[in-house]
Amino acid sequence: MNTGPFKVEVLRADHQRNEFACGDVDLDRYFKTQVTQDIRRHVAHCFVALNSLGQVAGYYTLAASSVLLAELPQALAKKLPRYPTVPVARMGRLAVSQSAQQMGLGSALLADALVRVFQADLAAYAMVVDAKHEGAVRFYAKHGFKPFSSQPLSLWLPMNAVISLVA
Ligand SMILES: CC(C)(COP(=O)(O)OP(=O)(O)OC[C@H]1O[C@@H](n2cnc3c(N)ncnc32)[C@H](O)[C@@H]1OP(=O)(O)O)[C@@H](O)C(=O)NCCC(=O)NCCS
Repeated sequence: MNTGPFKVEVLRADHQRNEFACGDVDLDRYFKTQVTQDIRRHVAHCFVALNSLGQVAGYYTLAASSVLLAELPQALAKKLPRYPTVPVARMGRLAVSQSAQQMGLGSALLADALVRVFQADLAAYAMVVDAKHEGAVRFYAKHGFKPFSSQPLSLWLPMNAVISLVA
């Protein structure tokens, strides 16, 4: 999948992770030291954006997850089956290297994740993202995500909103 001058690939062993720096030490450390363990344990998938030199300019992780039906607005919840939880896809981490920020790559990676979930064989009612800070909340809100009232750093976007965007 191509995004402008970047291409998005599933993370492989030959991708260079050591130089990645997005300005957030936790996101950098996770990418350098932990993500491959999570992939091996089947708790996350990781996708990377490569620039034209083959350097990693951004990454995100995706995993299956669930939210409590009671967390959704009542008007939507009453249209869903009365199970206690609703299946969702979770983008646990999203980071763009400092040298590639503010060029639209974060937005392109978010769109890439939404399209993958939309096309996946597993059902997901919504995409859920975990924002690390208020700035990230504004980034996701700009793309239509709404915060859960009980957890303002966790935001969601129903897949039917994605379907209209993809269509
Ligand atoms: C947040 C992040 C993924 C955005 O990626 P990006 O490629 O820079 O974002 P884009 O160029 O697609 O979009 C930029 C838009 O998001 C907004 N934005 C990005 N980071 C922001 C921040 N920290 N605070 C406020 N707004 C922010 C910009 O204002 C800009 O809006 P505009 O187009 O209206 O000017 C990237 O800045 C990053 O990796 N930051 C460090 C790690 C991090 O904070 N990750 C948060 C995910 S939990």
